[in-house]
Amino acid sequence: MCGIIGYTGGKQAAKILLNGLKRLEYRGYDSSGVAVIDNNRIDVIKSIGKISALEDKTDGGKKLNGFVGIGHTRWATHGAPSDINSHPHLSTDGNFAVVHNGIIENFAELKAELTAKGIRFASETDSEVIAQLLQYVYDGDMVEALRNVTSRLVGSYAVGIITSHCPDTLYAVRKDNPLVVGIGANENFIASDFAAALEHTHNFVQLGDGEIAKLTSHSATFFTADGEPVEKTPFRVDWDISQAEKDGYDHFMLKEINEQPKALTATVRPRVKGKDIVLDRINFDAKNTNRIERITIIGCGSAYHAGIVGKSFIEKYCRISVTCELASEYIYSDPITDNRTLTIVISQSGETADSLAALRLAKKCGSHTIAIVNVMQSAIAREAHDVLYTHAGPEIAVATTKGYTTQVSALYLIGLKIAKIKHTISDARYETLLSEIITLPDKVSEILADITPIREYAERFADRKCVFFIGRGTDYAASLEGALKLKEISYIHAEAYAAGELKHGTISLIEQGTVTLALTTQSALYNKMLNNIKAVQSRGGTVLAISSQANKQISEQSDGMLCIPDCDDDVTPVLTAVILQIFAYCVAAKRGCDIDKPRNLAKSVTVE
Ligand code: AGP
Repeated sequence: MCGIIGYTGGKQAAKILLNGLKRLEYRGYDSSGVAVIDNNRIDVIKSIGKISALEDKTDGGKKLNGFVGIGHTRWATHGAPSDINSHPHLSTDGNFAVVHNGIIENFAELKAELTAKGIRFASETDSEVIAQLLQYVYDGDMVEALRNVTSRLVGSYAVGIITSHCPDTLYAVRKDNPLVVGIGANENFIASDFAAALEHTHNFVQLGDGEIAKLTSHSATFFTADGEPVEKTPFRVDWDISQAEKDGYDHFMLKEINEQPKALTATVRPRVKGKDIVLDRINFDAKNTNRIERITIIGCGSAYHAGIVGKSFIEKYCRISVTCELASEYIYSDPITDNRTLTIVISQSGETADSLAALRLAKKCGSHTIAIVNVMQSAIAREAHDVLYTHAGPEIAVATTKGYTTQVSALYLIGLKIAKIKHTISDARYETLLSEIITLPDKVSEILADITPIREYAERFADRKCVFFIGRGTDYAASLEGALKLKEISYIHAEAYAAGELKHGTISLIEQGTVTLALTTQSALYNKMLNNIKAVQSRGGTVLAISSQANKQISEQSDGMLCIPDCDDDVTPVLTAVILQIFAYCVAAKRGCDIDKPRNLAKSVTVE
């Protein structure tokens, strides 16, 4: 997904912009560009391909003088990747340059209108209309011009703007697309995420929908969509810039896999006070909790899979019916949701467009909403009634790892909290599970201490065309995430099936050499899984079991086995997830894939 960085201050802007763009590379892009104001003129340099190509074209930034500028990494939507279609886009008179994330849905009408007035467009993009409109409406007041332009735009946008009419000033405006303002010492920034500006400042302001930022090196002023000045209080982001660096690992994904003990501890430990679970400011009193008749968990991709793990845990211990919904489906459904429904929206980035739209719909239906989010002050975090941050630290790799496992553990905490209040769990079971959740980070560390056996299996199976994942109960939920991880980074076709479903169709695909990863951590379902494994083997399939210590004897019945550390059956998905993440990582590494930036994928999907 596209990335934005903007700078105004006392240093040479181009170098800071190029550096910021490199921090945004992980979002996925096909071209990039920078624009800087030099002597009241806007200079633009753009390039298709990697940022290194842009660095070459700008001689590491040296070719662009000036202290105010904007930069962009583009992920093509309207118009093929090319130098011309890359951002920043200039107005025809050269006085306005813009970078834009999002989609302008009515760009064709606006373009036709402006073309009829004699304005010539250079690119095929929707974004260029913003620069051209600015030229058309500007009448000496930039804030007024931005208000005028945004009132005409339909769609989602985060926009950074510079203009030769105000050469010291950087402007920004956003709607339904993330943009933060970094407040530094004698310098200010705009960025589509914290990582791009984090090495310069830890103080940020979140720009609200429709709000306009006007930034110079010494001032940061904000206006509502009506043009009224508005005060904004910066908040601090404690993420360390080293967390956004590879730190000696070959890939961010591997680094983030290894950060899971720390991330899980950060999600859980501060919320456990003695035997109590205190979920920040969420008001789980008896009255509120007993009113909950159903729970809807909403997310996309891995966040949705975390929801499915949460569903079995919450239903088992809270005795409340839970449905899991894909955000992209939920928003076009007619949901059965009201003020007795608790809606939990899960999103690592907090900016996923479908999940944000689903949250808004649930609120509109009268539901109380809780967001499980990693990125502070992101749109979903701000708009939900309550938020539970996972505190996993920045996640850079497109394939989520610590984002997912921390979401699962946050759901465990919510489930236990509700169960305790509703008296649907015994004290003894509550205490056992709480201590199991607290010790999960140590057990993850145990897995990470020696990944050799996982790597050996991964390398053995790396040439396969298709891999199946099967499991029952919560193992099935974990299989879904295992299959997604493998397919997104290794490009091997992978399918997760509820093991009992195989015989209803999918087993026809099993043939000599087909690899099936069978999750067998649920003791109560062990014999049933055994039957499923035998059925796969008798058709020539190879079975690698991912087992709990209690079910270790599965090794005699399977073609290979990886074991998770000893733990309660109800929390095994966090541990199996780690094994499956490493498996997928090692398969992808063996196949030489671009692990952190898999083809066609973006970290944060801010368009529908
Ligand atoms: C997972 O590895 C994916 N990259 C993807 O499925 C992701 O979980 C999904 O896009 C949701 O993202 P979010 O958590 O930021 O909302």
